[in-house]
Amino acid sequence: MALYAKAADILEKVEMKQGAVKTLVFESKFQNIKQLFALVCETQKYSSVLQELIESTKLLKQTKVKMTQAKVLVYDLLIGQGLKCGGPWKVMMMKHRSRLEAALARMKIKQKVTKNKDLLPSSVQQAEGVLLPRYVRVNTLKTTVEDAVDYFKRDGFSYLGEANRLDDLNLKANSFVRDMHLSDVLVFTPKTEFHEHFLYKAGHIILQDKASCLPAFLLNPATNSHVIDACAAPGNKTSHLAAIMKNKGKLFAFDLDAKRLSTMSTLLLRAGVTCHHLANQDFLKVNTGDPQYKDVEYVLLDPSCSGSGMVCLGKDASPPDQEREQRRLGNLAAFQLRCLNHALRFPRLQRLAYSTCSVHTEENEKVVAACLQQNPGFRLVHLLPVWPERGLEPFAQCLRASTTKTLTHGFFVAVLERHGGAVSTAPPSQEEAAVGSTPSQEVTSVTPSAEAEEKPAVVAPPEAQINSEEEEEEDEEEEEMEVKTSPVEGQAKKRKRKKKKKKKKTTTAKVE
Ligand SMILES: C[S@@+](CC[C@H](N)C(=O)[O-])C[C@H]1O[C@@H](n2cnc3c(N)ncnc32)[C@H](O)[C@@H]1O
Repeated sequence: MALYAKAADILEKVEMKQGAVKTLVFESKFQNIKQLFALVCETQKYSSVLQELIESTKLLKQTKVKMTQAKVLVYDLLIGQGLKCGGPWKVMMMKHRSRLEAALARMKIKQKVTKNKDLLPSSVQQAEGVLLPRYVRVNTLKTTVEDAVDYFKRDGFSYLGEANRLDDLNLKANSFVRDMHLSDVLVFTPKTEFHEHFLYKAGHIILQDKASCLPAFLLNPATNSHVIDACAAPGNKTSHLAAIMKNKGKLFAFDLDAKRLSTMSTLLLRAGVTCHHLANQDFLKVNTGDPQYKDVEYVLLDPSCSGSGMVCLGKDASPPDQEREQRRLGNLAAFQLRCLNHALRFPRLQRLAYSTCSVHTEENEKVVAACLQQNPGFRLVHLLPVWPERGLEPFAQCLRASTTKTLTHGFFVAVLERHGGAVSTAPPSQEEAAVGSTPSQEVTSVTPSAEAEEKPAVVAPPEAQINSEEEEEEDEEEEEMEVKTSPVEGQAKKRKRKKKKKKKKTTTAKVE
């Protein structure tokens, strides 16, 4: 029963967008993490099918269980292990078994299919078919690619050298290659498990999708330079930047979310990053004129986005509400543009990498187009000519990534550089001016501490963190929408937001 109760609890939190499946499962401290993870993922995958079965049999009324509990139990009874455990819940469910089985059979006849998995919505079926290689970024702050290769060879993996073309990344079991575009990335077969591997636990390798390694690689900050990672948590790109900078210089990293920053702090500690200064702060409120940022020449901006490029199981299988989706994209794009415009105001900025894990042109090319129009002192850099997938015309200087053309998650990167020595001329809009004046003294510094080293237990694997980025977009969207509500409603929300922020600061203090 504990398994089902825990799974239902996590499912409910996921449905309420309170976190990503992997993160919540890891944080649950349940003794059999794998079993719990599989049950939650599978139930979530079949969510719409289960809901229909539960509603058509009026199960909730007859059993008095909650919808998420019913989903988990019906999943395991009809599709999973057949309710091997369950205690009193099992006894209760067995009474309804034949009705549920009959409802499932009717559903299959209606949809003219024979297998359970054919009942899944097509979006879920498509995502299931995609298996991306396991990408491993070697953390050059702690080791070299050569040493990592040797370690894996001694571990029983067979090294095939450097890949030459995309097809070389379709590997056979136990073999691995060095990536042809990113020399510190090694490629293994899909689902190769490294979360328990020594090199991962010691911070020698970072499990990061190849596309998400592009922004830091393309920004390529010089050693001893001053760099900003504007929306940084959970910090995979920050640790990549630090590796490129050889831990020399200053790396200012901001994020609004204290919990994610705390995870990031642990991750950076494990990765041996020392040149960073973390701040639990809204990037849009960072004072670009503050003397401490006067030498910032590079910015990496990887803001919240729709996450539409992420290939992951358990995406919401219900058909999207088009109008709501368009509104959401519009709000995200407005936020992304504000971040871009703000970043370009650092007086000595030379180069900026902008990235999203979205496939929507609204969040990618259109944001870049608007930004270039508003900041004539900047232009696009033509990136990595050998990369096979380019930004949509006329933005071929930018890169796109996808499961089909690059064997990665869907991704977009643009790099802007200052030209002609011009200083950014775009004046802050009224809305931006209002938020751009926070004094830097308000910055809450989160530095890695010995305490973080002692308590690293709840660091979700980076994969999970990537998923959780997507889960948390709703929150950011809410913030964006608040600006546009009526004054009365706005004030109430402001108070709520203040309360929320106070709470966040308290959490940060605890982290410290
Ligand atoms: C796509 S994720 C960043 C992932 C990160 N770059 C990495 O590679 O690990 C976006 C992050 O932006 C943060 N965020 C959203 N709005 C923000 C703001 N106004 N200022 C700072 N951070 C913000 C979110 O909390 C989230 O952690």
